[in-house]
Amino acid sequence: MQNERREQAQRTVLIHCPEKISENKFLKYLSQHGPINNHFFYESFGLYAVVEFCRKESVGSLQNGTQTPNMAMETAIPFRSRFLSLKLKNQTSKQSCIQSSNQLPPSNRKLFELLCYAESIDDQLNTLLKEFQLTEENTKLRYLTCSLIEDIAAAYFPDCVVRPFGSSVNTFGKLGCDLDMFLDLDETRNLSTHKTSGNFLMEFQVKNVPSERIATQKILSVIGECLDHFGPGCVGVQKILNARCPLVRFSHQASGFQCDLTTNNKIALTSSELLYIYGTLDSRVRALVFGIRCWARAHSLTSSIPGAWITNFSLTMMVIFFLQRRSPPILPTLDSLKTLADAEDKCIIEGNNCTFVHDLNRIKPSGNTETLELLLKEFFEYFGNFAFNKNSINIRQGREQNKPDSSPLYIQNPFETSLNISKNVSQSQLQKFVDLAQESAWILQQEDTHRPSVSSNQPWGLAAVLLPSVPNRGSLTKKKRKRSANERVKNLLESLKSNRTANFTETNEK
Ligand code: GTP
Ligand code: MG
Repeated sequence: MQNERREQAQRTVLIHCPEKISENKFLKYLSQHGPINNHFFYESFGLYAVVEFCRKESVGSLQNGTQTPNMAMETAIPFRSRFLSLKLKNQTSKQSCIQSSNQLPPSNRKLFELLCYAESIDDQLNTLLKEFQLTEENTKLRYLTCSLIEDIAAAYFPDCVVRPFGSSVNTFGKLGCDLDMFLDLDETRNLSTHKTSGNFLMEFQVKNVPSERIATQKILSVIGECLDHFGPGCVGVQKILNARCPLVRFSHQASGFQCDLTTNNKIALTSSELLYIYGTLDSRVRALVFGIRCWARAHSLTSSIPGAWITNFSLTMMVIFFLQRRSPPILPTLDSLKTLADAEDKCIIEGNNCTFVHDLNRIKPSGNTETLELLLKEFFEYFGNFAFNKNSINIRQGREQNKPDSSPLYIQNPFETSLNISKNVSQSQLQKFVDLAQESAWILQQEDTHRPSVSSNQPWGLAAVLLPSVPNRGSLTKKKRKRSANERVKNLLESLKSNRTANFTETNEK
């Protein structure tokens, strides 16, 4: 699928268009270079068109008829990319109504409206998924952006491939999510695979550095410079080379994507494939993951700034784990996916066994028929009461295990099994997650008895648990919890009293 998308992206150009443009004339003008397979427009500080030609040669022909701008005050760096700008020679063109494809998720207000008018919690979760998931156009734009960055990186490494990974491709991406890119230099490394005859072997003269990490840092450093100096539309380039996984972060202005470029990060590609499989196996998985991610974001449990919070990746692992724990399980364990693998699936990366089955047809569908409503409630209930202090989460075996260290939240990295993917999470952030899960479980439980009617316009179900924990509601929950705690203490005292009385009578009787 990736190869097909990549090949499409290579036949595609991104064009900044004037606001007043006739779609027909625009297409006719471009068709001089060859037939167009498909196109769409979108707005992002201006009007842009994504145009996919049927043949790759058309792009070359269009580029040959394109000139580098002449500017009065500044000097253009003559870099010929597939990101172009269309100018009108005269302003006579009449404005036609161009339909723009939407690249952004609905506003909170729109979302609440949609959720309030849904018919059930299942309907709410499916609506959320439908509104937030990546569209076909947004996916095309993501592959095109990778392809444009590949052209820049190819200036140094002509055979490199830039592949999207993470939520752009793992079925859990939401409109507006970042674009994780992987610079794959395997082709460059292994080009001369054909055997040479005779007694000789030819090798490239290369520079050597002491470690893989240093090589990664050097490569990303020059690519970062290149994006900064020559990359059309690449702004705010930051080289974050001392991170555990070195990366170059930048904004691709025209597409509106925040991009993270890494290299030497093959395991993340495999993780994306695994999540893709889990997301595709059962239609409830994505709906629940979107619901939980949205819930976490609404309560600031997740953030776009790195820190002591839970990440979306960790939340997805928690949902997968929870679905593996249902009876019967909704998702298989990673170990069972490994058992189903055949020789073609075999994959060892840096000594880690990353083998699992890739053919979805070989995985038996789950016999579990629980509704999304039940699963949402049970998710909050389950993690609201999970023994995080002693247990770790582990999707490989699909059961809790003793925590190997004292990190507040321990989620085993599925492929590098000695690592914890949520090592960064602080005790207070975990506590906030637990408190909110308990509160949300309680809100949904209360609704079982009194659900606000749709006509009352009151947020209910998913909408109710997305609302900020207002002091009122929080204290209500706390009050309720306090009340039940008080009740427990009262009962305990009462039973002690009666025991003492009983003992007393007993002793007296003796
Ligand atoms: P978004 O929040 O929508 O961007 O989700 P995402 O899944 O894309 O997460 P992110 O951009 O943070 O990371 C991209 C990918 O890198 C993830 O999908 C994982 O495959 C991988 N990844 C992220 N964080 C970790 C981690 O802590 N450990 C490991 N092993 N992989 C990670
Ligand atoms: Mg991401």
